[in-house]
Amino acid sequence: MENKKAEQLKKFTIDNEEQAGLTTNQGLRMAEDEFSLKAGLRGPTLMEDFHFREKMTHFDHERIPERVVHARGVGAHGIFQLYESLSEYTKADFLNDTSKTTPVFARISTVQGSRGSSDTVRDVRGFATKFYTDEGNFDLVGNNMPVFFIQDAIKFPDLVHALKPEPHNEIPQGASAHDTFWDFIGQNPESAHMILWLMSDRAIPRSLRMMEGFGVHTFRLINADGKAHFVKFHWKPLLGIHSQVWDEAQRAAGKNPDFHRQDLYEAIEKGDFPEWELGIQVIAEEDEFSFDFDILDPTKLWPEEEIPVKIVGKMTLNRNVNNFFAEREQVAFHPGHVVPGIDFSNDPLLQGRLFSYTDTQLSRLGGPNFHQIPINQPVCPFHNNQRDGMHQMTIHHGQTSYHRNGLNANQPEPVPVELGGYDHYQEKIDGRKIRGRSDSFLDFYSQAKLFYNSLAPFEQKHLIAACSFELGKCKSDLVKNNAVALFNHIDRQLAQEVADNIGAELPEENLEVKSDKKSPALSMANTVSKSD
Ligand code: HEM
Repeated sequence: MENKKAEQLKKFTIDNEEQAGLTTNQGLRMAEDEFSLKAGLRGPTLMEDFHFREKMTHFDHERIPERVVHARGVGAHGIFQLYESLSEYTKADFLNDTSKTTPVFARISTVQGSRGSSDTVRDVRGFATKFYTDEGNFDLVGNNMPVFFIQDAIKFPDLVHALKPEPHNEIPQGASAHDTFWDFIGQNPESAHMILWLMSDRAIPRSLRMMEGFGVHTFRLINADGKAHFVKFHWKPLLGIHSQVWDEAQRAAGKNPDFHRQDLYEAIEKGDFPEWELGIQVIAEEDEFSFDFDILDPTKLWPEEEIPVKIVGKMTLNRNVNNFFAEREQVAFHPGHVVPGIDFSNDPLLQGRLFSYTDTQLSRLGGPNFHQIPINQPVCPFHNNQRDGMHQMTIHHGQTSYHRNGLNANQPEPVPVELGGYDHYQEKIDGRKIRGRSDSFLDFYSQAKLFYNSLAPFEQKHLIAACSFELGKCKSDLVKNNAVALFNHIDRQLAQEVADNIGAELPEENLEVKSDKKSPALSMANTVSKSD
């Protein structure tokens, strides 16, 4: 079967075994590669040794910055096959034509630790997929949990500063068992739902082949008649969902820090290809306000018994990368990479993400031309009037590089919507410019309670043990007490047991979260915010 992405990558691939004769980067054949040029056999190395200088300089610059989050990841190529046309909801070609097989590249990551941290840590797993469609790249940049810690992107740098190893000693690596993390959670009650997912068994997958994926945010699907629906995306693993218990995970991390990486690689090498079905939950625009939660709030899931997940296709990861750096490290995902028929919602977390990814990749991948890196190139033609810049790899021949061009009839011109040009959904917006959040985002605990109550008794036990272990590592009593106070809003027994285990204060029923200074998050939660 033809795979356009595989064919494209082949053109950039150099097979080590087919190369003859060592040369410099200028093509000069070198007769010697073990000894530098010296003034006498026991004398100093000479500055004019261009071979030594080139070899060493290149080595000195082999590393690029790791991702600011999701630094440790593993990925593979594959295909996506649609089961049935979704033309009722979207005009996206790859979600309409069941005869098409779309090449994909998926990268699964941990969030907190550095590139060299262990796999089987308690953490969120990123699950990013690039669909190389005939209409451009569509990236589904999700996680293995359906909700998130915060409701507004402006808090993301604070969340990550609190979550990452603490700045004075870079401890702990790959874990959330420390004061700054729990301080943030205690001060930001909107994280109540997500913290339970993170403390649950879901946070330590048995294998990356056995975890779900979620787009988290509400997106929009738009059909050929211009009708829009709200949508959430899901990946359901065909091997089912399986976790490790804490003790197993710790042993695995000690014995083999590459436990998940190796498992995925070897499964694909053996032909035991991991598969996920793509699911969508759809809400009609007219039902936007029919629920007891705000469908734009990323700390809420859409209950599957109310809004069923419709299974629409399948992704199979069937090819390992040829080169870890060129493919897994240089890949650049972006939730703003959409195709005609897919658009955004006003989820304030999603809106901020639309800025952040290209911005970080400009420094991570060195300038504005990283879309030309082979793994990032679309499989359809791409051309516009952008020019030059660091690492430009294309020779744009010709006199002109601007739109509204009288000199060159072939200069790239906008494509009309009828011929496939992207058209932003014309949502009517009428509101005041204001910092704040809608009252409809202020119920922090209902879904957290639902999640806790949905767990089997042994799963609740694991969760209590996880909270006690992680929080028990904190040094500050204030931090411990605030976190227990947060749990107290979710479940009394949960709060009681964790408090007993770690020697924290158990508040009176319904006591507000305490802080030694007034938290803007709490003051927002306790006052009526203005929304239109
Ligand atoms: C990676 C920002 C929330 C999923 C990243 C990166 C940044 C970032 C800067 C590094 C990208 C790179 O270097 O290529 C943000 C911001 C967020 C946010 C500002 C909130 C305002 C989320 C959420 C999800 C998510 C809610 C899941 C739904 C991912 C994934 C990656 C990632 C999967 C790794 C992509 C890869 O494998 O290369 N994020 N993120 N992020 N983010 Fe987010």
